[in-house]
Amino acid sequence: MAGTPEFAPQALQTLRRLRFSAATAAFQIEGARTLGGRGRNIWDDFVDDPGKVIDSSTADPGPDSYHRSAEDVELLAGLGVDRYRFSISWVRIIPDGKQGTEPNAVGLDYYERLVDELLAAGVTPEPTLYHWDLPSGLEATGGWLNGDTVHRFGEYVDAVADRLGDRVRHWYTINEPASTSLQGYALGDLAPGRAMLFDALPSVHHQLLAHGTATKILREHGAAQVSAASNHSLILPETDAGADHAAAAVLDLIHNRLFADPLLLGEYPDLDALGIQMPIRDGDMELISTPSDVYGLNYYNPTTVHGVAEGPLPFEMVPTPAAATTGFGPLWPIRPETLRDFLIDMRTRYGVRLPPIVISENGASFPEPEACTGPIRDDERIAYLHDHLEAVAEAIEAGVPIAGYTVWSLLDNFEWADGYTQRFGLVHVNMETGQRTPKSSYGWYRDLIASVRP
Ligand code: FCB
Repeated sequence: MAGTPEFAPQALQTLRRLRFSAATAAFQIEGARTLGGRGRNIWDDFVDDPGKVIDSSTADPGPDSYHRSAEDVELLAGLGVDRYRFSISWVRIIPDGKQGTEPNAVGLDYYERLVDELLAAGVTPEPTLYHWDLPSGLEATGGWLNGDTVHRFGEYVDAVADRLGDRVRHWYTINEPASTSLQGYALGDLAPGRAMLFDALPSVHHQLLAHGTATKILREHGAAQVSAASNHSLILPETDAGADHAAAAVLDLIHNRLFADPLLLGEYPDLDALGIQMPIRDGDMELISTPSDVYGLNYYNPTTVHGVAEGPLPFEMVPTPAAATTGFGPLWPIRPETLRDFLIDMRTRYGVRLPPIVISENGASFPEPEACTGPIRDDERIAYLHDHLEAVAEAIEAGVPIAGYTVWSLLDNFEWADGYTQRFGLVHVNMETGQRTPKSSYGWYRDLIASVRP
């Protein structure tokens, strides 16, 4: 294709070491919110609250993967990915999230079928156990602010592992705990939509404990690879002014180190300056830092901040200078070299404590039509993915251990509070009909994977 970016031979050589995957999440693709004995979660509550989702869409039917998973598996097989990162909906398994509830066989059957179809197609399943969809019954008793939620999560993980643990060996525990704590509980622009600022921080500790608890259970069921999928961003000061550097250090602390330090070092960074106390009990930090086989890392863009002298937060996010932006505009700049720099920083910060990194999400949305009337030439997405993979190759060449790369997303889907206004897929989905049409980025990713295989 004219204008398709090429990899340098050395970069292609380096990329041979990676396992390739594509990702989705249950609430974003399944639809069927009231079928199969499924209970309600905080995203059901969020989408049913008028005004919360920008286009008033409800994720139902959306891509309707509850009924069309066989087509998804066919698309994955055609892509030639090694793995598929999808998520399991907690409320399809334990409808009210509560203690003692019998697991819902219909929900377990659904994921078992998907796993079997993937295995038959030669694609390794790598499910995420929690991708933002907390049972509403647990949010009613405090959600991730309540330590009891950790135990309920353990029961749910146990039920899933009992059914699937003989065939699924690769797991993600918690997706983007930073997004849940910062955007869900501190600022309120994602479910559960609470705006507690720094009072939200116990939700960090409980999600990390849930990760540790799940890791232990999954290992007992013979898992070969378990990790969280932590979202990170290189934080840049707007100017060289001391106040901007100080603001960048605070955001780096609460967005990056607050999650990576406990997972990798078994301790929180110094939070005294922020006046924060975590509800730590004996044994918690050991559980949280149970060694992981890989470090799942979601990366999309850098974040630029400037210092704010007075206000509830000591920083404010401002647009990052960039030649191009994604469908989200100025706050989602395209700066692939910041991924390389962040990966190198991870190696510098954590040294030998850092296991091989798997990029568990990376991708971009661009304006695309709702109905597909001809081929979709998504050259901007191809350039984004190419440039970020080149950044990954550079980081590997600089000595960072990296084992895998995952495109977000296999399919256009429900982009949370942005509804259907942001399309991230390698495959276009008509949200009225569910029809799937591969975009040119699908062919590009397929050809890349084929070209780095023996
Ligand atoms: C990540 C989420 C994922 C998707 C992408 C665009 O933060 O994990 O579900 O929405 O952003």
